[in-house]
Amino acid sequence: MDRERVVVLTGAGVSAESGLRTFRDGDGLWEEHRVEDVATPEAWERDPELVLRFYDQRRAQVIAAGPNAAHTAIARLETAHEVDVVTQNIDDLHERAGSTRVMHLHGEILLARSTADPRLITPVNGPTLRLGDRCALGSQLRPHIVWFGEAVPLIAEAAALVARADRLIIVGTSLQVYPAAGLVHALPPGRPIHLIDPSDVPLRSASVEHIKQKASIGMPMLASRLLGEA
Ligand code: OAD
Repeated sequence: MDRERVVVLTGAGVSAESGLRTFRDGDGLWEEHRVEDVATPEAWERDPELVLRFYDQRRAQVIAAGPNAAHTAIARLETAHEVDVVTQNIDDLHERAGSTRVMHLHGEILLARSTADPRLITPVNGPTLRLGDRCALGSQLRPHIVWFGEAVPLIAEAAALVARADRLIIVGTSLQVYPAAGLVHALPPGRPIHLIDPSDVPLRSASVEHIKQKASIGMPMLASRLLGEA
């Protein structure tokens, strides 16, 4: 079997069966919280404690969660292929499952960064980040998260990976949030796309195979096939 370049684009659905809630499903996080209150620069200006509390909850849940069969199947693809995971998720479940190349488009919940210099990034010790936690320059630390209204610094690098991929796998994302959703269009025409999601997702193309399953079922099935086992 030829070694292929595979990009796996993931969203909240890949971690749903690890107990981490998605954003836009019926019980999603955005049903309970307004984006404008917790995930924008304006929210941080207005009420940083509320923003910190929201991300503290996310961090505690990520620490308590573990990877599921979908994360493991994605990691297993590396035994035969060149795999880059491009994830919108802020959890570290791909890394804990064993994936070695993971790009976090929307940041990482276990990291904090300086409000004075975005290049100063530091691990969060434990589940909470508090007002008064400061960077080396003495400025308040904020969650290392890309908020709505902010640029996605890694998007060009991600698009370059997709542009040279032989195959794209999309797992558990509603493809509602740009620029991440637009990455699909960086794939050269005719290259296969596999979409794993129990719901309909707005992606119309002749080269899409929709595996209408939960990630923990669909991803191991697809991995077995791409590893020549099934
Ligand atoms: P969404 O909540 O928008 O979409 C989750 C997708 O996962 C939906 O298409 C569901 O059908 C699917 N899904 C649910 N359970 C699943 C399962 N067990 N297996 C497979 N798929 C399942 O989440 P994202 O598309 O990741 O950004 O959202 C994108 C971005 O919007 C997030 O990164 C976050 C959010 O606001 C920021 O906060 C910046």
